[in-house]
Amino acid sequence: MRGGLVAGGAHGPEHLRALTAVVLDALAEAAPARGGPLPAGGPEAVAQSTRALCSPVLPEEGIGPEAALGDLVRAVAEGAADPADPACVAHLHCPPLAVAAAAELAGAALNPSMDSWDQAPAAGVIEELTTAALARLVHPTAPAPDALITSGGTESNLVALLLARERAAPGPLRVVTGANAHHSVHRAAWMLGLPAPTVVACSDGRIDPDALDRALAGLAGAPLLVVATAGTTDEGRIDPLPEIARIAERHTAQLHVDAAYGGPLLFSDRLAAQLAGLEQAATVTFDLHKLGWQPVAAGVLAVADAAMLAPLSLRADYLNADDDTEAGLPDLLGRSIRTTRRPDALKMAVTFRALGRRGLGELVEHCVRTAHEFGRAVDAHPQLRLRPGGIGISTVLFRPAVADALSDEAGDAVVAAVRRTLLAEGRAVLGRAVAADGDGRSRLWLKATLLHPNAATADLLPLLDLVTAAADRAVSEPAEDRGEIRGVREASAADGTEVPGRERLSP
Ligand SMILES: Cc1ncc(COP(=O)(O)O)c(C=O)c1O
Repeated sequence: MRGGLVAGGAHGPEHLRALTAVVLDALAEAAPARGGPLPAGGPEAVAQSTRALCSPVLPEEGIGPEAALGDLVRAVAEGAADPADPACVAHLHCPPLAVAAAAELAGAALNPSMDSWDQAPAAGVIEELTTAALARLVHPTAPAPDALITSGGTESNLVALLLARERAAPGPLRVVTGANAHHSVHRAAWMLGLPAPTVVACSDGRIDPDALDRALAGLAGAPLLVVATAGTTDEGRIDPLPEIARIAERHTAQLHVDAAYGGPLLFSDRLAAQLAGLEQAATVTFDLHKLGWQPVAAGVLAVADAAMLAPLSLRADYLNADDDTEAGLPDLLGRSIRTTRRPDALKMAVTFRALGRRGLGELVEHCVRTAHEFGRAVDAHPQLRLRPGGIGISTVLFRPAVADALSDEAGDAVVAAVRRTLLAEGRAVLGRAVAADGDGRSRLWLKATLLHPNAATADLLPLLDLVTAAADRAVSEPAEDRGEIRGVREASAADGTEVPGRERLSP
C-alpha cells in the first residue's frame, strides 16, 4: 500500500519528494486563502471548517497519502495562527526559520531516538556538540559546564528544581521566586513534592532585591533555591541578576535563572551585557523556540557543572547495559528525564552553522530594535498609550486611550474586547497582560511580543489602527453587535465570504 512507504532508507527521499511537494503546495495555497494572521470566525467557524476537511480522521479505508496530506495540511494551515504574519504577536511563539524547518524533515525521516547510541549514533554526537556550545555560551568560565536538550522551558524548570532538590537532600528544598515567575516554576515544585514556592514582590515587573533578602532570611536554616527570570512572560523584564546572585550567595541559596525568553540575548555582542550575572546561576533555562526561531520543541537546560546531572543517570539493560558502556558505547539515558526523544539538536546545529553566533545575534537585535521603534510609534499615537516603564526585551504593552476614560473595570473590559474582536475577525493576534500602570494600579494591557526576525516596523504599524478602530467599536457598540468571538461566524472565510476591510499586513 503506497501510504505504507517509509521515509528513510535508499528510497525514502524519492517517497518524500513527491509527498513534500503536496505539503508545500497545500501550504502555499493556504496562506492566501486564510488571508491574515489567523482564520476569521472564531473557534466555532474554525472547528467547523477543520472538521469538514479532516473527518473521519480514522476512516475504515484510507484515502491515500496525497489526498490525506492535502486535506489535513490545508486544514491546519488555513486554520493556523501563523507567527510568520507580522500581526501574530500574542505569545513567545516565533516564526521558525526555513533552514530549521528543513532540518526537521531530515530528523523526521531518519527518526533517531536520543536515548541510546544504537538509535542515534551521529545524532548523539551532534547533540553533544550542540549542548557543549550552548553550555559554554551560558557559563563561559565554568570548568565543566554542560547542557541538556529539553522539550522547552517547562521541562527545563522542572529538571532544574529536581536537580536542586537532589543537591539539597534530605531537604526539604524551599523555592523562593518572584511574583513575575512563569507558572511552570510553581507546577514543578508541586510535581516534585516540594513546599509551594515563597513568592517575592516585584517592582516594575522585576524581583525586588530587598524583598528577596527578607524572604530568604525568613527561611534561614532550610536548603534554598532562588528562581529568577531573564525575560518575563508578560513584560519581558530581566530580574536584577548580579544583585540576586549576591543575595543568594549571602544566604547560601542555590540560583536558577529562567532565561527561556532572554537567553538568546547572549548571541548578541551588543545585548549580552543585559544578562550579566547569568553565569553565576547553577542552572539556566534557555529556549530556542522563542527568540531562537526553531520549530517546537527546542529547549535547553544549562548547568554550571556537569556533575550536577548525576541524579539523572540510571541503568536500563536494554539501553545502556554496563558491559556496553564499558565497551565504549556512549550512555545517553542520563541526558534527560524522558526516554524516547526527538533529535531536536539537529535543527539547532544546522541553524547555528548556517547563521553563526553573529547572524543569530543580528536577528535578536532586529527584534529588540523593532520593539523599541514600535513602542515609539505607540507612544506618538494620540489614541494609544504605551505602558510606562519601557520595553522589556521585545515585548510592548499598550492600551487604547479610550479605555483610560472609563472605570478600571470597564477600561480593562475594553482592552479584552479589542483583543477578542481582532481574534474573531482574523485581523490580529495580540496578547494580554495584567501589569502595574504608572499610578501603581494593575491594569490590563495589550501585549505585542515581537519575535519576527524579518518584519520591519512599517509592517507592524497597521496594528495600531486596527486596535484604535476596535476600541472605538468596543465603547460605542454593544458586545452582541460586535460579535467578539461567536457572532462573526456569518462573515467568516469558512463560508467563503470575506470579512470587510480585512487586508493582510505585508510580511
Ligand atoms: C519565562 C518563561 N519560562 C518558561 C516558559 C515555558 O516554556 P515552554 O512553553 O517552552 O515550556 C515560558 C513560556 O512562555 C516563559 O515565558
